[in-house]
Amino acid sequence: MPDARAVIDPAVVVGQVDDRLFGSFVEHMGRAVYGGIYEPGHPSANAAGWRRDVVELVREMGVTLVRYPGGNFVSGYDWEDGVGPRQARPTRLDRAWRSIESNAVGTDDFLAWTRLVGLEPMLAVNLGTRGVEAARNLVEYCNGQAGSRYADWRAANGHPRPYGVRTWCLGNEMDGPWQIGHTSAIEYGRLAADAGRAMRLVDPSIELVACGSSGSKMPTFGSWEETVLDIAWEVADHISLHSYYDPAAYETVGDYLACSLDLERMIDTVAATADAVADRKGSRKRIGLSVDEWNVWHFAEHRSREDPEGPYRVAPSLAEDEHDLADALAVGCLLIALLRHTDRVRIACLAQLVNVIPAIRTVDGGAAWRQASFHPFADVARLGRGTVLGFALDGPTYRVDGEGQVQAIDAVAVRDAAAGSVTVFAVNRLDRPLGLEAELRNLGPLAVDEHRILTDPDIHASNTAADPDRIAPRPGVNARIGAGRLSVELPPRSWNVVRLTDAAGEGSAGGT
Ligand code: AHR
Repeated sequence: MPDARAVIDPAVVVGQVDDRLFGSFVEHMGRAVYGGIYEPGHPSANAAGWRRDVVELVREMGVTLVRYPGGNFVSGYDWEDGVGPRQARPTRLDRAWRSIESNAVGTDDFLAWTRLVGLEPMLAVNLGTRGVEAARNLVEYCNGQAGSRYADWRAANGHPRPYGVRTWCLGNEMDGPWQIGHTSAIEYGRLAADAGRAMRLVDPSIELVACGSSGSKMPTFGSWEETVLDIAWEVADHISLHSYYDPAAYETVGDYLACSLDLERMIDTVAATADAVADRKGSRKRIGLSVDEWNVWHFAEHRSREDPEGPYRVAPSLAEDEHDLADALAVGCLLIALLRHTDRVRIACLAQLVNVIPAIRTVDGGAAWRQASFHPFADVARLGRGTVLGFALDGPTYRVDGEGQVQAIDAVAVRDAAAGSVTVFAVNRLDRPLGLEAELRNLGPLAVDEHRILTDPDIHASNTAADPDRIAPRPGVNARIGAGRLSVELPPRSWNVVRLTDAAGEGSAGGT
């Protein structure tokens, strides 16, 4: 008897996966840029100073989009400092992270890096210390055709063709008292509406993300979104939500692995709030959700901010968390939560990519390696394309304070019609093996094509420079198909991927 039974039914569709769901984030913070993606003089650096070892890992991770340049950093950033001849760029004090910013990397450089890697940029404008004009000018600089001041400046800097940056954040976390320029929802809503209108006058094709809440525990969560959307309704295509989960805030690993329930509630609340505003306005518009900062964060354990009394420093080591297997499984549950909400979540950014709350870590002048959490992300970015199907699950539960009974197995199924495949992603949250049997309803004959497991006897094992592959996926051997059902045993505390492909020729797993 399996511990859990499920039904995967193509008649029950959650939504289509947007390519931008597999985004990440590079902020001018700590060693994310300097020593992370950019390190001239590193043995692997190319002529432009980009670390090729990091480029390779970002490609392997399957990241589709990267948000830049912040984060809190953007709220004090003058984008003009970071373009033009490097030797003429000013050195500035970055107040967000108490760092010295050389401006060696700026907008043109970052956009060149995204092209090198092969991913889409998502830029944020400064609505903290700057405003409508600087935002408008940056859109003109990036997307304008030659023949106007800022587009011509770009061309003079060696980039005659417009970049065509599609997705833009209207500031960052403006609801947070820590944010430079933090303000009320009403003031921010007006500023976002004005800036968004001005930016669209330059390029009507851009998509705009208004700032939502920095977390579900913010005192203004809900009311902030309602007010901002009410005022900035015409310009907002998306509203952001940010969510980080600190393992130190949970009593047990089981409690920690249930953190994705908070993200699911947050997504549902923001979607309902946006739809309530739409109804009030008599609008059929459906605002997209941009979960443009999400991750686990060992906030209490590692230094995330510089000493407020200490000196400003160049690329200080900040938030260089080491992710263990528990973190990787939490990230797996958060990825499943995002997939389960593809009807509303259009954009999501694992925050961050390199060295800061990182998926990838580096040593200055030395190695780059994958954190444990890199692996579930890479699996989902590679195989989680297409349509998310309903995954009705009846299985064991366990009690989590504040949540009630939580499913021991968290799982989702994604069908890629073009590839004729169905992939099941599953986390076993318990410390005992669990058998899962899933009925494959109306999906035609399928065979197990790939089965990967991420686990370890030690839930706190992690990858280090000395042992970079301690936590890495291993092939699974016990996934079987029989009588239209998938049976698989999920090892204790594990991340599991089972890809099924058409066993009888084109079309049986496909549908339309
Ligand atoms: O990702 C680190 C920081 O977390 C970002 O700068 C900020 O937006 C959030 O509070």
